[in-house]
Amino acid sequence: MKPLIIANWKMNKSVNESLSFFNQIIDPLSKINSVTTVICPPFTSLSELNKSIAGTNIKLGAQNIYFENNGAYTGEISTSMLKELCSYVIVGHSERRTLFNESDLEINMKLKAVINEGLTPILCIGESIESRTNGNANQVIGEQITKGLEKIASINNLVIAYEPIWAIGTGKSASSEIAQEMSVIIRSKIHELYGVMSEKIPILYGGSVNSENIKDFVSKDDINGALVGSASLDPKSFISIVSESQIQT
Ligand code: 13P
Repeated sequence: MKPLIIANWKMNKSVNESLSFFNQIIDPLSKINSVTTVICPPFTSLSELNKSIAGTNIKLGAQNIYFENNGAYTGEISTSMLKELCSYVIVGHSERRTLFNESDLEINMKLKAVINEGLTPILCIGESIESRTNGNANQVIGEQITKGLEKIASINNLVIAYEPIWAIGTGKSASSEIAQEMSVIIRSKIHELYGVMSEKIPILYGGSVNSENIKDFVSKDDINGALVGSASLDPKSFISIVSESQIQT
């Protein structure tokens, strides 16, 4: 499977800063065709960046959506609006689950909206440090998958990102062995629900990924790429992460 590297900029970079980042990565990344690269900037940068990616191998994603298509939902953005601007959407990031109380039901509705619009959802799952210490990590992951994908018949486009909460923004990534072990558990859960489709689902690791540890993650059999937060904000560091990911080709 072609490695997939997704940058999640979170609430960082103005439109001008986003454009400046792009100008610095376009040439180096245009030489790397064996990795799929996706940037998820804030909503405000999507329109300008969409013009900049024309003719390049870089794709764009959003960090969130609302599940309704249109109407009186002040401050929300729908998938039909995003469709003109990007092809991926992050759904269920742990920051949204915890800071904004997003439930599995809401995440399920968002996934349905993204899939119905023909966009590619990146479903984020991951356990807290308490769940890991108590030995409940597998159960938490299993429930997030079952509830998140409830009554979703087709997962042709789905991407899953395993992001243990304890590894996000801490500088302490999971070991590649733990990430691989959890990816196998995730793939077998998907297999239980969808059969052989499970072999085609990219499973990414996220949580303190950087240019030094990326190679270790993507060299594992069941890890197909990474969802990168802070290390994706610096052009040099991001180019180096994408470059190091060429290992699996
Ligand atoms: P960091 O790479 O900053 O740990 O963030 C990971 C993440 O949350 C990506 O979605």
